[in-house]
Amino acid sequence: MATQTNFDLVLFGATGDLAMRKLLPSLYQAHAAGLLHPQGRILGVSRSNLTTEAFLQKVEADSKIHITRYFNEETWQTFISRIHYLSVDATKPETFAHLGDKLAERPETDNVVIYLSTAPKFFMPVCENLAKLGLNHPKVRVVLEKPLGTDLQSSQEINDAVGKFYQENQIYRIDHYLGKEALQNLLVLRFGNVMFEPLWNKRYVDSVQLTIAEKLGVEERGEFYDITGALRDMVQNHLVQMLCMVAMDAPSSLDADAVRDEKLKVLKALKPFSVESVSSEVVRAQYSATETEQGCCNGYLQERNVPESSRTETYVAIRAEIDNERWQGVPFYLRTGKRMADKVAEIVLNFKALPNPLFTEGSPSANRLVIEIQPFESIRFHTQVKTPGAGSRVETAVLGMDMAKEVAGRRQEAYERLLLDVIEGNLALFNRRDELEAAWAWVTPIMENWQADKAPLHLYPAGSWGPEAARALLARDGNVWHEEQ
Ligand code: BG6
Repeated sequence: MATQTNFDLVLFGATGDLAMRKLLPSLYQAHAAGLLHPQGRILGVSRSNLTTEAFLQKVEADSKIHITRYFNEETWQTFISRIHYLSVDATKPETFAHLGDKLAERPETDNVVIYLSTAPKFFMPVCENLAKLGLNHPKVRVVLEKPLGTDLQSSQEINDAVGKFYQENQIYRIDHYLGKEALQNLLVLRFGNVMFEPLWNKRYVDSVQLTIAEKLGVEERGEFYDITGALRDMVQNHLVQMLCMVAMDAPSSLDADAVRDEKLKVLKALKPFSVESVSSEVVRAQYSATETEQGCCNGYLQERNVPESSRTETYVAIRAEIDNERWQGVPFYLRTGKRMADKVAEIVLNFKALPNPLFTEGSPSANRLVIEIQPFESIRFHTQVKTPGAGSRVETAVLGMDMAKEVAGRRQEAYERLLLDVIEGNLALFNRRDELEAAWAWVTPIMENWQADKAPLHLYPAGSWGPEAARALLARDGNVWHEEQ
């Protein structure tokens, strides 16, 4: 069913990597599924001086290849007829006039979505120039792509700058992890099933692990990555948001602010680090070159556009605690890394052993809930079962559900879901300013510790599960990472 919302979507940074790899393919999927209003337009904008035809040739060459499902040439042709291109330079006010004229062609639109897939330094001039044309009226929504700053102060500056021209309820700060189906399903699993919610607290949960591991290295993004690092690229946003979804209390409704209020409470209850405590609670590491039977694998320092002496982290592991009634004393282990052994994002809850166990030789990997977010969506509970035959030995067997098999329906890519939400005006899966700033505040002592080079930068072989120090971080509590058990 097409959405009832008649939109114009203005995509700044339209020739960039994200637009080509993710945004346009996601819009194609929404179009192919009949989810876009028939008159909705996509106005690609960037500094390059291109005609619409030339832009479409680029889309044909660079974007179409990223559509892996539901491709159909006829549908593609109808999709690209929605696209127009305009050359606009963020820093030159006079170049905005024709964008204003283009939008004025259709006064009947329900809303105008301005998607800023550009470096944050352009957010302020773009918003200012749009406002000069009156393009900040209540029908306009502005989407901000990460990274939203490099620390708390720069994030506040960006928010202040955009906030001068747009109200908070017009601002959509994207974290694409929140658009992932499995993360949304987590709320249903937790709050919709009697078996989970009563156990979801310090009384029953021993520890929690959150992992986002990637197999790829930094590829062509060395220049960006080297000034960013894993903490800013993955922890401050994706991992922290995952943590909020796991730890939050039930919101009073699914309204955007009800959900965001609960996430904010988690962020505020996160035990703060001091610059000193970072050295014992946080591990940073960088991948080093390895040689395997399949060939050799570059270390981070050999990647393109990475300085030979770089101390940028490509891996982070954190032992966090949440100081509230529900979670006091339960360690939350967070980790993310590039060039790891596998690509996987998952949440693991280890439940406490039952008191007075009858089965003393119980399996240590049982009583564990594993929620895989990607590449496959699944929920598995590792249970203790009796080993068949004489005696009372027990072993672990897995009670599992593969979502793709069990639940029919077309799965949306995160960006498709989020783009449709912006068009529809649903803010629930976007970060509010206070959430974002609370996340920056929490990682600030980590950045300060590393800037002062207080904690060591460990190495881990490319293609491995990370450094020894991350193993030791858990061993201190008598725990091990999930894949090692
Ligand atoms: C992005 C990071 O936000 O998320 C990338 O900038 C990372 O470095 C990517 O590769 C991971 O997203 P996904 O959806 O592939 O897990």
